[in-house]
Amino acid sequence: MAANFSNSAWFYDSLSRLVYGKAIVNTQLYLLSYIKPHNKILIVGGGTGWILEELTRLHPSGLQITYVEVAAGMMALSQKRNIGNNQVTFINDAIENVTLVADFNAAITPFLFDNFTERTLKTVFDHIHSLLKPGSLWLNCDFQLTGKWWQTFLLKSMFLFFRLICGIEASKLPKITVCFHSKQYNIIGEKFFFSGFIVARVYGR
Ligand SMILES: C[S@@+](CC[C@H](N)C(=O)[O-])C[C@H]1O[C@@H](n2cnc3c(N)ncnc32)[C@H](O)[C@@H]1O
Repeated sequence: MAANFSNSAWFYDSLSRLVYGKAIVNTQLYLLSYIKPHNKILIVGGGTGWILEELTRLHPSGLQITYVEVAAGMMALSQKRNIGNNQVTFINDAIENVTLVADFNAAITPFLFDNFTERTLKTVFDHIHSLLKPGSLWLNCDFQLTGKWWQTFLLKSMFLFFRLICGIEASKLPKITVCFHSKQYNIIGEKFFFSGFIVARVYGR
C-alpha cells in the first residue's frame, strides 16, 4: 500500500519545525532563489503548501505552477495558501499517474524521495525527468547520511514514525544521487543544512 501523508497533515509542519528548527524551510528557500520570473514550475510533494507562499513572496506574479500532491489532507491545506497573482494548477494525485505537457523550466522535489523504495524512486524520477525541457533546473532536497551516529538514529526514528502513522514503504534511503547522475544532470548549486544531514542540490541538464 502506498504511503498516505494525510494522517500527518495537521501536525506535519509543527513536528518538522520542532525537530529541525528552521532547517527544512531554509533548505527550500535556498532552492527557491534559483527560480526566475515567469518560470513554468512543477512542484511535487509540497506537503502543506507553505512553499507556495514563500515562492509568492519572491515572485508575487508571473509564475505558472503545477502543484502535484498525492495526499488529500496535504492538498486541502495547500489550496488555502496565498499564491498572489501566480497561476497554480492543483493536482491531487501521484505524479507518476499524471499526464502533463513536457515544458517545465524547473521541478521542485522537496523531501519527496527519502521514503521511497528504489523501484518507486525510479518510476517517479523518470516521470519527472520526462516533463522537463532541455536547459531546465531540478531543485531537490533531502536527507543524507554522512557517517554521524545521530543521523542514522534520527532517520530510523523518522522511518518508524512515518511507517506507523502514514504507512511509508522504505526503511532506508534510496539512492537519489545515482538517479541524477544516470540522466547526466550537473550540480549547479549545493548547500548543506542541519550539520550535513540535509542537502539541497540544484541540478541542470
Ligand atoms: C516527506 S513529505 C514532504 C513535505 C514538504 N515537501 C515539506 O518539506 O514539508 C512528502 C510529501 O510528498 C507527497 N508525495 C509522496 N509521494 C508522492 C507522489 N508520488 N506524487 C505526489 N506527491 C507525493 C506526500 O503526500 C507528502 O506530502
